[in-house]
Amino acid sequence: MIPPTEITLRRPDDWHCHLRDGAMMASVAPFTARRFARAIIMPNLLPVQATPISARQYRGRILDALPEGAQFTPLMTCYLTDRTDPDDVARGFEEGVFTAVKFYPADATTNSADGVTDIRKVYPVLERMQKIGMPLLIHGEVVGDVDIFDREAVFIDRVFTPLLGDFPGLKTVFEHITTSEAVDFVRASSGRVGATITAHHLMINRNAMFEGGIRPHRYCLPVAKREAHRRAVRAAAVSGEPCFFLGTDSAPHEITAKVSARGCAGIFTAPAALELYVQVFDEENALDRLEAFASLNGAAFYGLPVNEGALRLVRQEWTVPEKVEVAGTSGLHPFMAGRNLGWRLADG
Ligand code: NCD
Ligand code: ZN
Repeated sequence: MIPPTEITLRRPDDWHCHLRDGAMMASVAPFTARRFARAIIMPNLLPVQATPISARQYRGRILDALPEGAQFTPLMTCYLTDRTDPDDVARGFEEGVFTAVKFYPADATTNSADGVTDIRKVYPVLERMQKIGMPLLIHGEVVGDVDIFDREAVFIDRVFTPLLGDFPGLKTVFEHITTSEAVDFVRASSGRVGATITAHHLMINRNAMFEGGIRPHRYCLPVAKREAHRRAVRAAAVSGEPCFFLGTDSAPHEITAKVSARGCAGIFTAPAALELYVQVFDEENALDRLEAFASLNGAAFYGLPVNEGALRLVRQEWTVPEKVEVAGTSGLHPFMAGRNLGWRLADG
């Protein structure tokens, strides 16, 4: 078969995205809005987004930061804490402010100090969510003295499996999966558990963090794993199976915060987010399954309509920007900065 020179997709969605706030948001949001019709916006700001009022205000600031004429809908999430009120969550969902709740185990990642210290403390919230059909988005890593490369797999046994037993009707998304154990678990629980997959976890394994010296821009959480895991996650993404869908976890941190004695976790993929996935699907001869992964599966899982309209990409080289400026900061270093990619957005 002759390789296609262009593809047209129903407009895709990003089911896991960090836009931050203020000047940072003003710089990064246009990249996401250019590529995706909707994005699930993560609530790990300081202070965290934990009430319908603050989510409504944050949504307003996002819409104000978008370029004229942008057609983009931010889908807001509620940051789950030990003190979250089930009524607040239910009201936010019913009013259409909250699309989902995000569960960070306390201290698992960036701005997670207010996360859940013991899942039993939030059982009343989960009970209510199960009743109203509201999805729980899970950062699936244990904290503590478990080896950092094992934290996702251990989370499945210690937390996720018991949770599914206690809440058989709760819809959950296993965010940014990185291991073959997570792939197997999601497949086995398909229908009640979905999973997002980032572009960077499809492209790098853990060696990339140490290639010729320490590479802070390739560090994120969950941390990249062994090559065998990357392959398993890649096979899942390109399979087209309904339980796997696109979620970039684009997580900008300014350069001085990344290149530091204690560099922040997060990879900033937004400037090439969709193009990176296209490259992966092309390499796997799976371009015919990209639309399922990028534009259909997530919407179906969330019970939302698919987007109208289309996005065209062409097989043409372009260079990922070396740097993205953010007023008043040291700027951002995108994933694959300065490298050539083989697919670009048409008309822009
Ligand atoms: C995210 C961030 O910076 O907010 N970092 C990351 O490494 N992915 C938080 C998260 O999603 O874990
Ligand atoms: Zn994230």
